[in-house]
Amino acid sequence: MPARLEIEGGIPLSGTVAVSAAKNATLPALAAALLTARPVVIENPPGLADVTTLTRLLERLGATVTRQADGATRVQVERVTSSEAPYDLVSTMRASVLVLGPLLARTGVARVALPGGCAIGVRPIDQHLKGFKKLGADISIERGYVEARASRLKGARITTDLVTVTGTENLMMAAAAAEGTTVIENAAREPEVSDLARLLSAMGARIDGAGTSRIEIEGVADLGGARHRVIPDRIEAGTLIVAGAITRGDLTVTGLAPEHLSAVLAKLEECGVTLDVAADRVRVRGPERPRPADVITSPFPGFPTDMQAQVMTLFGLADGLSRVTETIFENRFMHVAELARMGARIETDGATAVIRGVSAYQGAPVMASDLRASAALVLAGLAARGQTSISRVYHLDRGYERLEVKLAGVGARIERKRS
Ligand code: EPU
Repeated sequence: MPARLEIEGGIPLSGTVAVSAAKNATLPALAAALLTARPVVIENPPGLADVTTLTRLLERLGATVTRQADGATRVQVERVTSSEAPYDLVSTMRASVLVLGPLLARTGVARVALPGGCAIGVRPIDQHLKGFKKLGADISIERGYVEARASRLKGARITTDLVTVTGTENLMMAAAAAEGTTVIENAAREPEVSDLARLLSAMGARIDGAGTSRIEIEGVADLGGARHRVIPDRIEAGTLIVAGAITRGDLTVTGLAPEHLSAVLAKLEECGVTLDVAADRVRVRGPERPRPADVITSPFPGFPTDMQAQVMTLFGLADGLSRVTETIFENRFMHVAELARMGARIETDGATAVIRGVSAYQGAPVMASDLRASAALVLAGLAARGQTSISRVYHLDRGYERLEVKLAGVGARIERKRS
C-alpha cells in the first residue's frame, strides 16, 4: 500500500533539526567509485531511495557495497563485470547516467539506457555526449541505449552550450582518468561539483578551478581509493528553514553550510524572515506574514530551481503579489495546481508564476508529483488550517531523509500512514 503523510497544520516549529548529507553530492561520489579498484568510503551517506537505486546499479556493474558499523558506505569495484546500466534502473532515476563517464574511462565501453523525459522537463543528455565525443569516444544510440566506446580517452577542451550539473560531473570523472589535460568551460559551479572534485583529488586526480566556470583536469592513469565526507544538503537545509519561517516558528537548522545557501537566505530576509546565521547553523524566526518578493531561478550561485516550489509556497501566504520565473526546467510548476487545492492563488504564464498571497491555506488531500513539489506540499500542510493528506510520498523519500521524523522532532504533527 503506498504511503501518505497526514499533517495537522498550524503549529509553529521550534527546537533544533539537523541536515543530512547532500543527495546530489552523494550520487556522483558513489559513481566515482567505478574509477578505481580500491575502496571508496562515503562516511555519511543519507538514507534516501535515490542513493539505494544508485547503489543497486553499482552492484549490477560489479561493485561490492558494504554498510559499515559507523554508518559509512564502502564501495569497491575490483572488477567491472558489466558495462550496462539497464533501462529499469535509469528510468527510475536519471542520475544513473552518472555511471557513463566513469565506466567509459575505466573499461573503454559503456552502455547506458537513455533517460526519457521526466516530470519536470525533457532533460536531454546531449551535452554529456558531446563532451565524451570531444574526449575521443565513439557514441551511438542503439535501441534506446547510449553506446560509448574509447580505447583511451584523451584530454580536450570542452565548452558546454549550457550549464549542466551532472554533465560537468560526468565529464570531470571521465577526464580525471583520461590521458592529458581537459578544460571544461561553462562548467557548473554548484557546490556538489566542488565536492566531487574534492573526492577525485583525494583519489589522486589533479583538478583546478572546481567551483568556477573553468575546470582544468589533468588525467592520471591510476586513481586510488579514498574516504569522503559529503557536504550538507543545501536544498534540505533551505526546505527546513522555510518550514520554520512558514509556521512562524523559532527553529534552528544545524549542520549546514550557509555559504551554499546565500541566494535563498537573501531572498528569505527580503520576505521579512529573521535569520541568525552562524558558521554551520541558521536560526529562523518567521514573520507574522511574509512580504512578497520575486525570484528567478538560475545556476549556482543564483537561486536554485530545487528551492523554487518551496519559496513559492511561502510567497503564497505573503501580503501582496510575488513572481517566480523558472529558467532551468520547462515543467516545474506541478505543485501549483495542488497548492490551489489548499487555497493558493497562483497563475502561470509560460515560465512565470504570479502569486497573490492569501492569509491562510486550508488543509486538503493533495498529491505529490516530484521531489521538490512534494516538499512544497509538506510546507503548505505545516502552515495550513486543518488536515492535509499528501499521497505519493515516495517522491519525497527520494531526496529527504526521514523528513516527517525530523519535522515531528521540532513539534510538527505529521505522520506517515498506509491504508
Ligand atoms: N540540459 C540539456 N542537455 C544536457 C544537460 C542538461 O539540455 O546534456 C538542460 C536540462 O534539460 C535543464 C538544464 O540543462 O534544462 C540544466 O540541467 P542539469 O543538467 O544542470 O540538471 P541535472 O544535472 O540533470 C541536477 C540535479 C537536479 C537539479 C539540477 C539543476 C542531480 C542528481 N540532479 O540535475 O536536482 O535540479 O541539477 O540544479 O544533481 C533534485 O534534486 O530535485 C533535482 C532535480
